Amino acid sequence: PDERIALKARIRRLLRERNAVMVSHFYVHPDLQDLAEETGGIVSDSLEMARFGRDHAATTLVVSGVRFMGETSKILSPEKRVLMPDLDANCSLDLGCPVDEFSAFCDEHPDRTVVVYANTSAAVKARADWLVTSSCALDVVNALHAAGQKILWGPDRHLGDYIRRQTGADMVSWNGACIVHDEFKALELELLMKEHPKAKVLVHPESPSDVIALAHAVGSTSAILNAAQRFDATEFIVATDTGMLHKLRTLNPGKTFIEAPTAGNGGTCKSCAHCPWMAMNGLVELANALETGAGEIHVDPALGVRARVPIDRMLAFTA
Ligand code: 13P
Ligand code: SF4
Repeated sequence: PDERIALKARIRRLLRERNAVMVSHFYVHPDLQDLAEETGGIVSDSLEMARFGRDHAATTLVVSGVRFMGETSKILSPEKRVLMPDLDANCSLDLGCPVDEFSAFCDEHPDRTVVVYANTSAAVKARADWLVTSSCALDVVNALHAAGQKILWGPDRHLGDYIRRQTGADMVSWNGACIVHDEFKALELELLMKEHPKAKVLVHPESPSDVIALAHAVGSTSAILNAAQRFDATEFIVATDTGMLHKLRTLNPGKTFIEAPTAGNGGTCKSCAHCPWMAMNGLVELANALETGAGEIHVDPALGVRARVPIDRMLAFTA
């Protein structure tokens, strides 16, 4: 614990010295979530991370999360230095959507508006008409559908299916998945719900459709947080990364949050739903990034200009 306290003090000092602000995602270690808030930054979903970094006056942004979040920040603020604790922190959705193959898929459907999820590389974003995160995907696709547009969606198939069911839009989808949310199991969830009949079930839409079908609320990480505060219930079952439990518990001290079951150990796996890439963010790596400038994100400037178009569209749509 002494070492952690010393590391946190060092990070606070470095943030001041480097004119840096820290933005953390809800899935990173509680230490990094708390540090971001204590030092004038935020903990948020991926949409608000992007907006906050763009609007903040600091000359260095420290992004605790995964690579696409750092890249989005850099694209929106090319003049700022963007640091990440570990540049290898990736995402199965990003890794499963190589730009050449995705571009070929888009070329096969020239009549469709290309809507891509934030969890993608800068190059895939540059190929898109619209960017969305899970907190605005439904509204964006609803608006495009109402305007008579057909959609090409990528890369998360579960989120895409959910949006298609909700909006009735004509959509073709890339076949990607989040390795964390893809593991939630409906059968085991139903059994858990029988044990906790009053519990409300909160589900991130990167989960399979039969899990989503059991939810009382479906939405992004911030929507899950809002639902936990809004519902007049004392017990919740949560189908998203276990990193989320820190904020859910600290903001709702009188309520109980139970992890939804995943495949491991026949559905009894505890703390299995945790993203290995989010887990690469640590205090040591963060201090090192600030001290040495390691972990700086670079995006090719010309690519960044193209990738910014769909991101700006999303930020204007959700302003
Ligand atoms: P949110 O946009 O709901 O925060 O989720 C993004 C995500 O999956 C991060 O891994
Ligand atoms: Fe990607 Fe899933 Fe990890 Fe989020 S939780 S970064 S979607 S692999």
